[in-house]
Amino acid sequence: MTEYSAAKSGSFKIGGDMEVNRLGFGAMRVTGPGIWGPPADHGEAIRTLKRLPSLGVNFIDTADSYGPDVSEWLVKEALYPYSDGSIVATKGGLTRHGPDIWLPVGRPEYLIQQVHKSLRNLGVERIDLWQLHRIDSKVPAKEQFDAIKSLIDSGLIRHAGLSEVSVADIEAASKVFKVATVQNRYNLVDRTSEDVLDYCAKHGIGFIPWYPLAAGELAKPGSLLDTVAKQHNVSPSQIALAWVLKRSPVMLPIPGTSKVKHLEENVRAADVTLTDDQFRALDAEGKKAFQAT
Ligand SMILES: NC(=O)c1ccc[n+]([C@@H]2O[C@H](COP(=O)([O-])OP(=O)(O)OC[C@H]3O[C@@H](n4cnc5c(N)ncnc54)[C@H](OP(=O)(O)O)[C@@H]3O)[C@@H](O)[C@H]2O)c1
Repeated sequence: MTEYSAAKSGSFKIGGDMEVNRLGFGAMRVTGPGIWGPPADHGEAIRTLKRLPSLGVNFIDTADSYGPDVSEWLVKEALYPYSDGSIVATKGGLTRHGPDIWLPVGRPEYLIQQVHKSLRNLGVERIDLWQLHRIDSKVPAKEQFDAIKSLIDSGLIRHAGLSEVSVADIEAASKVFKVATVQNRYNLVDRTSEDVLDYCAKHGIGFIPWYPLAAGELAKPGSLLDTVAKQHNVSPSQIALAWVLKRSPVMLPIPGTSKVKHLEENVRAADVTLTDDQFRALDAEGKKAFQAT
């Protein structure tokens, strides 16, 4: 174990019983451009994934649609049989027809097929956390939720979550199965899901913010973010991540990279302790930037 570790971010029990260090890893970026096909540098992608356990990163997010399949295959190649305690979350419900094309399909038989495929791709008998990548508006939501419930009941998935949803969606799904996590876009300057985050915090649901490193214009030289970064001797994106981590104890950020160096930098963000004043000042600036968009 290195002197810095994702363990410094604290831990959270997904679904009340599956403990992970809060600072996780997003495995979307270990694929080719447009999240399509194999990575440009297979060796570096594998080195990045293999580095996770020694950095205390034990929560890894992937999806059947990343590649497609490529990300799950690489996670298996690097980490199987997960004997270091890695918890792998995957998703299903988006189909791929080419680079940067993502089309939802939520028919129950498709969702169930994809879970069986992810089980094979990852080499496991049960998926730790399976998330519905998108609720398909062409299919009754209840049918999609019923499919998830059947997957939990049959033991193929341990916990289930949702992605890009509203509070009303979480409430509707919660009538059918226990929603363990919600994965929505959230960062210092994208606060669209503030109400969803507050709902998750109130109900003990893990909130997985994707694109957590973004800071937009706030990162420019001479800005408050830049000044705070200099005070801590780190980069603005590390401060953006430290801010996200401090925002809520249910926050499980999954910064993604295909490079060992960037992974190590991101994990060092768990070492940064923002003062309450710094947190509040960054919060206000982030909200202002968000409202201006
Ligand atoms: N649920 C959803 O709909 C959804 C949508 C998108 C993503 N996700 C999940 O969320 C994860 C994170 O989202 P994201 O990848 O969009 O955003 P992110 O992790 O905030 O940013 C990733 C980008 O930042 C770069 N990067 C990472 N660390 C860096 C560093 N230390 N210095 C400089 N550049 C760095 C990466 O490129 P390099 O490879 O060059 O480092 C990559 O281009 C994904 O991996 C995926 O698991 C979910």
